[in-house]
Amino acid sequence: MAKVALSSIAKSFGPTKVLGGIDLDIADGEFLTLVGPSGCGKSTLIRIIAGLEHHDAGSVAIGGNRVDHLRPHERRVAMVFQSYALYPHMSVGANIALPLTMSRLKLWQRLPLLRQLSAQRRTVMRGIEADVAAVAAQLQLDHLLQRKPAQLSGGQRQRVALGRAMVRNPDVFLMDEPLSNLDAKLRVHMRTELAELHKRLGATFIYVTHDQVEAMTMSDRVAMMDSGSVLQLGTPSQLYEKPASLKVAQFIGSPAINLLPATVANGGRLELFGRPLALAVPLASGQAVTLGIRSEALSLVQGEPGGSGRAWFSARLRRKENLGSEYILHFDLAGRDATGVTMRATPAAAAGVNEAAEVTLGFDEVAAHIFAADGERLEPRGPGAATGSVVPLRAGA
Ligand SMILES: Nc1ncnc2c1ncn2[C@@H]1O[C@H](COP(=O)(O)OP(=O)(O)O)[C@@H](O)[C@H]1O
Ligand SMILES: [Mg+2]
Repeated sequence: MAKVALSSIAKSFGPTKVLGGIDLDIADGEFLTLVGPSGCGKSTLIRIIAGLEHHDAGSVAIGGNRVDHLRPHERRVAMVFQSYALYPHMSVGANIALPLTMSRLKLWQRLPLLRQLSAQRRTVMRGIEADVAAVAAQLQLDHLLQRKPAQLSGGQRQRVALGRAMVRNPDVFLMDEPLSNLDAKLRVHMRTELAELHKRLGATFIYVTHDQVEAMTMSDRVAMMDSGSVLQLGTPSQLYEKPASLKVAQFIGSPAINLLPATVANGGRLELFGRPLALAVPLASGQAVTLGIRSEALSLVQGEPGGSGRAWFSARLRRKENLGSEYILHFDLAGRDATGVTMRATPAAAAGVNEAAEVTLGFDEVAAHIFAADGERLEPRGPGAATGSVVPLRAGA
């Protein structure tokens, strides 16, 4: 059991700054996911925690002790890689046992001829076999211990790699995109397996992925990274419901959040496509902002659009995407080439719109996320602002 504390971790490769001072406290037993686009520094950070890479500045503490000077195997961490890194010539059992044979047997006991003679070695080997059997049983690999990795499916290989990490009984599991090589269906299955394994073991998991669905479904908390820094740290719901910036909003959620251009009018009131909203923000008039609307927050408006706290705009249905249990409707915005929007709909609602039909889409203004031109989230002054509580931000505004 161990918490992990990262403080001001910085790293450059030559002239390229890859991590720009990362602070992150991971609780004992937590499942924390580092998520972000390819190249943002996730692998570099997790390799620094593992001791496989050296940081230029800052410190790593595991279980309250600084480990910066410790070698990987002295840190009580175990890493699972995307590539599995199994030895093809060794059986599944020997692959899982490897960390134990390396740590428990002396060098001469591993040599082919001498090892036959040692009774002490046999005792150690029996202990190792028992530990391997216990892990193999947990991962349902017991019947595969004699096979070679090439004789296994992708999912089974992944479990062998997990087993090799588990057999060391580490305080912290470090996983770098461990599911990326699996097909879609198996990935979904392994998400559940990993989440359950985490519960069962009670160990700290630090998990790296570029897949926001993996991050959202398994983690206690998610650290969203971009360009070598953490943009936001929070529970999956916090990142989804209150993204701190446009980048987080765009990365988290599928289909991607809808973005609509809006402008600030007098008193900070927002205007969407020339129509005033009840929302107001603390910005001077004339500035551009972006409204983020999740696809489930949109609905088809029947009859008169508008009403208190309801925004609306016209759109034309481009395509219906049938997901079985629901539809994703893709709309073009009337008179605007560039932006489209997506809306989730029940099959019944989707049946009510024909392709190329002109419709009115509406949303509750409180469901809108507002982002300033620099991408920072803005908290609106809310529909209450419409009743005259807005204070002009500058003279003449
Ligand atoms: N050993 C290395 N030498 C030089 N550049 C590297 C090395 N490892 C990673 N990088 C660079 O550092 C950046 C971050 O890489 P990485 O941590 O692997 O990102 P991620 O895992 O988020 O995709 C990338 O631009 C990558 O090219
Ligand atoms: Mg990586």
